[in-house]
Amino acid sequence: GPEERVEALLAVMTLEEKVGQTHQVANITPEDEDAIRAGAVSSSLYASGATAGNERDEGMLVANIDAAQRLAVEESRLGVPLLFGRDVIHGHRTVFPIPLGLAAAFDDGLAEETARVAAEEATLEGVAWTFAPMMDVSEEPRWGRVAESLGEQPVLAGRLAAGMVRGFQGEDPSDRRRLAACAKHFVGYGLSTGGRDYNTVSVGENTLRNLHLRPFRDAVRAGVTTVMAAFNDVDGTPMHAHRRLLREVLKDEWGFDGVVVGDWNGVGQLVRQGVAGDLREAARLAIEAGVDLDMCAGAYTAHLADLVRSGEVDEALLDDAVRRVLRLKVRLGLFEHPYAGDLEDDPAPTAATRSLARRAAQAAHVLVKNDGVLPLDPAGEDRVLLTGGFVDEGDALLGTWVLDGRGEEVVTPADALRERLGEEPGVQFGRRLDVLDGRFPDQVLELARRASTAVMLLGEHRGRSGEDRCVTDIGLPPGQLDVLRHVAALGTPVVAVVYTGRPLDLTEVLDLAAAVVVVWHPGVEAGSALTDVLVGDVEPHGRLPMTFPLSVGHVPTSTHQRPTGRPIPVERDRFEGRYVDALTHSRLPFGFGLSYTSVEYGEPSVEPESVPVEDGTATVRVTLSNSGSRPCREVVQLYAHDPVADVTRPEVELVTWQTVDLAPGESREVALAVSTRDFAYSGRDLTERVDRGDIVLLAGPDSATLRATTLTLT
Ligand code: IFM
Repeated sequence: GPEERVEALLAVMTLEEKVGQTHQVANITPEDEDAIRAGAVSSSLYASGATAGNERDEGMLVANIDAAQRLAVEESRLGVPLLFGRDVIHGHRTVFPIPLGLAAAFDDGLAEETARVAAEEATLEGVAWTFAPMMDVSEEPRWGRVAESLGEQPVLAGRLAAGMVRGFQGEDPSDRRRLAACAKHFVGYGLSTGGRDYNTVSVGENTLRNLHLRPFRDAVRAGVTTVMAAFNDVDGTPMHAHRRLLREVLKDEWGFDGVVVGDWNGVGQLVRQGVAGDLREAARLAIEAGVDLDMCAGAYTAHLADLVRSGEVDEALLDDAVRRVLRLKVRLGLFEHPYAGDLEDDPAPTAATRSLARRAAQAAHVLVKNDGVLPLDPAGEDRVLLTGGFVDEGDALLGTWVLDGRGEEVVTPADALRERLGEEPGVQFGRRLDVLDGRFPDQVLELARRASTAVMLLGEHRGRSGEDRCVTDIGLPPGQLDVLRHVAALGTPVVAVVYTGRPLDLTEVLDLAAAVVVVWHPGVEAGSALTDVLVGDVEPHGRLPMTFPLSVGHVPTSTHQRPTGRPIPVERDRFEGRYVDALTHSRLPFGFGLSYTSVEYGEPSVEPESVPVEDGTATVRVTLSNSGSRPCREVVQLYAHDPVADVTRPEVELVTWQTVDLAPGESREVALAVSTRDFAYSGRDLTERVDRGDIVLLAGPDSATLRATTLTLT
């Protein structure tokens, strides 16, 4: 069996060969070739010199991978194959919406399908492991990496992450068209102080357990084979040295038997973080904490053998790390199929993968305002002006962390709207929306004056969100608001389409525009999905996966709010914790999203009304009716609040959701199943508990529009 194979290999390895299995390099360079022959390299992070898809030749990735692999398999003493990783974050060649956009779909099945397609394409190019999904829970729009996250609610992030793990890895990990997945970044990264990337984190273990660790536990339960340590510290202990969380919680308590990989130079950074005097000490701290594979720091390869020989590091710790790495390689079937060159398909998008990308991008569109201007009438005589920085820039629509997708493969809004509406009397194009250096785009104003509707593509370029792309201003980039003000002042109704990797301050956009659609960075089918939604071929059905605050000064504002002793909405007195210069509520709540019709929710009920605390189950029922004249797809959301608990519990926490299609005039009762396990939480002693007593269950269309019923746990 696989374990015997691992043990047999381990038994014949020299100390140096063992250390080799803990060493990951970035790209394989000619200097690595002798080390590979010596069995001193385990894995490569980017698999080749190409990190930007557009710059490399067809077939280069697989050719480089197979050439390096041949050295490991045929020229090293034990022939242990190399493990090739790559950041396949939201698609490989077929680029899907950024993860935050995918989260807006509230659809774990869809997340799974996109991950499966990504795996099928990436494996054709020799990639065996992806550093996804990222499930850092965050309420911090200033932090650029929320673009890669799956939203602020742990149940949403956890369900989507589990779906992605299933999609990447499949049922049988040795399937050559499947990737190993990586749950990242363990843990607390979403709390980086001030939203500044890589920053310190001050949080207690209770909050970690009740919020930040939960999606990771879901990913581990879904069988994720690797976990990446986070760059941040937690309450003074850098995660790459965090024995308590990596070894005791993840590995021992949860039984995770896969690989913990460090983040890029994360082991080396222990020196800069000031907990290790040098790289040697950093290596000791990291192996003790439970980091199995050192990404690019070179700390293990330089010092582990010596640390073991000198008795400073117990060889059993090294053996445990090596066992985990070998286990992964065996599970992936790399010993049987080390090469990718014989898989003769083309990873380029196909009609089928494009259709999935289109569906995913449609589902990511969140309509947050509509005074009736949408949907556009595709057969109308209207003159539609399409304008803005994203009109025909394929690359800008792909989003952060795209190594292999290609801008020229993107269907742009200009392409798609032109095709759907026709040129005459259809769309006019006025480009260059951004006003820089005081220049003003007169042409846009002239076209807007003559248009019956101005569709303005606003928001962040892909390069403004993602890793190390943090901001202090969550408004639109400079100049855009100015143009919007001028166009709106003409009286032409504006449809504002917002491209973004983070919640933005949309307060003025919502005031000025007749309709607003948040579309994130939608991927290769950006234009077709936008057109589908704008003309109503598809009903908008995305929901916000993060709270949109009123302003940057309101950050953090989110569903993570726990009750204080002076709750703001209830007591209208001083000393309640409100601002003296602004309202305190959010601008757009978590879970919010409109359709082109109106939906009424009835009072929810729960049956039975009381259940035994051990493994009780109940059903919440709520009736919805579509009171408008168009069909809709509604995401019915169920939240819970625990009014008396061992620790303060959130005012609302997502428990589950269900998506239903309603025809015009249709009413339907929706049944949402809950179990007492859904109300488990970590108490003051850090053990999981479910209490006797009442749980308030809240059903509705978003986290701020809810009606309550009560379930009693006996
Ligand atoms: O996977 C990433 C991680 O999220 C951030 N640092 C680099 C890694 C590999 O590219």
